[in-house]
Amino acid sequence: MYRSHNCGELRATHSNIEVTLAGWVQGVRDKGFMIYVDLRDRYGITQLYFDEDQSAKALMETAQKLGREFVIQVKGKVQERTSKNPNIPTGDVEILVSELNVLNGSKTPPFTIEDETDGGDDLRMKYRYLDIRRNPVKNSLVFRHKVAQAVRNYLSNDGFIEVETPYLIKSTPEGARDFVVPSRMNEGQFYALPQSPQTFKQLLMVGGMDKYFQIVKCFRDEDLRADRQPEFTQIDCEMAFVEQEDILNTFEGLTRHLLKEINGVDVDKFPRMLYDDAMRLYGNDKPDIRFGMEFGELNDVAKHKDFNVFNSAELVVGIAVPGGNSYTRKEIDKLIDWVKRPQVGALGMVYCRCNEDGTFKSSVDKFYDQDDLAKWAEVTGAKAGDLICVLSGNTNKVRAQLSALRMELAERLGLRKSDEFAPLWVMDFPLLEWDEDTERYHAMHHPFTSPKPGQLELLDSKPGEVKANAYDLVLNGNEIGGGSIRIHDKATQAIMLKHLGFSEEEARAQFGFLMDAFEYGAPPHGGIAFGLDRLVAILGGQETIRDFIAFPKNNSGRDVMIDAPAPIDDEQLQELNLKLNLKS
Ligand code: AMO
Repeated sequence: MYRSHNCGELRATHSNIEVTLAGWVQGVRDKGFMIYVDLRDRYGITQLYFDEDQSAKALMETAQKLGREFVIQVKGKVQERTSKNPNIPTGDVEILVSELNVLNGSKTPPFTIEDETDGGDDLRMKYRYLDIRRNPVKNSLVFRHKVAQAVRNYLSNDGFIEVETPYLIKSTPEGARDFVVPSRMNEGQFYALPQSPQTFKQLLMVGGMDKYFQIVKCFRDEDLRADRQPEFTQIDCEMAFVEQEDILNTFEGLTRHLLKEINGVDVDKFPRMLYDDAMRLYGNDKPDIRFGMEFGELNDVAKHKDFNVFNSAELVVGIAVPGGNSYTRKEIDKLIDWVKRPQVGALGMVYCRCNEDGTFKSSVDKFYDQDDLAKWAEVTGAKAGDLICVLSGNTNKVRAQLSALRMELAERLGLRKSDEFAPLWVMDFPLLEWDEDTERYHAMHHPFTSPKPGQLELLDSKPGEVKANAYDLVLNGNEIGGGSIRIHDKATQAIMLKHLGFSEEEARAQFGFLMDAFEYGAPPHGGIAFGLDRLVAILGGQETIRDFIAFPKNNSGRDVMIDAPAPIDDEQLQELNLKLNLKS
């Protein structure tokens, strides 16, 4: 038996019993005639005690040679400490060691294995197994397990069946590039790793599974961000014989359950917001509604004077920054520089101070009088003591820019509190989205999403205006889930694919299997997928998903620990009948 107890469980009530513990040496304090060792495992830290009077000489010598991260096993008696440590649960006791076995040595770790480490990101990723020994990472993984377990229990109790779907498949378009895998047995042919199990879950509905879920890896070759990884995990769900309302209720139930179970937070019915309103009020389809600062559109009250910048703009729009009138001129200039950074891309920013005495002072006083500025304040909801920030330009661009500013200011003002949870549904997304690069429409969600009833006819005349039966679940400004009611008949699916630019042959080649299935009694169905990594991170009070993933990729999509991706040898290439044609 390696251990009778773990390093987190011994208390004063265990005094005088003989125990065996095993773990890693967190640290050694050698006082000559007595030695203290902190022994660590997943569960905690227990102090080991060696003392000249009570321990054999050989034992003292072995203890003296222990280094950080050595793996040891000890036997000994639990005793109450003379000086207790109230900061750890085992702080009342120590083990008077009678036997010490070194199970394995350790090189000095490249960074300290402590809550606050001196290791930079790259180093921690290269030695991720050491990083995982640190509490913050370990706790995040345990937390992830808890969330995943709560999800499984909830859905299983609600009659959902977890079904695994294959990873070696054909492209499932979700808007990213595919990772492809060459097939040795089928020369010149490739599998694609699933961007999501979308088509399979729909086929499971045709197969009569009725309520499906799967906690499943998805793969998307896209640029990485704090909330994106090339392989990530979805809680993927699908239901048959449902309308949008059924799906919203079911998964609102799941989310509410998680907030209660994991965070102890009660949330009322989730608000619902139309996509168009989210864009108008927050410039964003995933608004953070933990705080206000809603957009005020100023065209009507700013385009009537000689200020050409505004007159030539498609949209003039502003936000009120609470207490922002206290900003110095220098601080405001810095803010202007911030919106002009290429990542935000604004050409400039107009501002208006709302003085405590009810007067206004703007950066465009030449053009606008007090009455005009009072209207700006009214539209943006600015009060005395606030600062109105105004951007103008192309509607889509300016909304995105002001949204970035809103989030930045909220962060600086401490309005994005990680222990506050504000979920909402964003509904009625456009079915199609114009892509400037390819100059054609793409499915905003995916090609299997159904248009709102009665809107199919609009596809020819006003494709950009057709709304979809699609919804996103947003939590604290993050899209944590998205889904839709699907098309379940061949004819509609064919029309949809035609509008997405697929010829009949291409549609057949890529999605023939699904269209065929629709001809064998496909039930009405719909579903949703949550991003598990994101959900876990946000419930855990963070927005970066990396520390909630055991072995994440870095920003270049590399695993620096195993050094992947990597070239493959010629033999393997030959076997796959692949020839590299690398640009030097
Ligand atoms: P969607 O593409 O919206 O929908 O993805 C669902 C959720 O997955 C998360 N997500 C990601 N998380 C981390 N890294 C990524 N690269 C990444 N990409 C997406 C997001 C997102 O809301 N098949 C549809 C679902 C459906 O229609 O049922 C789908 O995949 O939180």
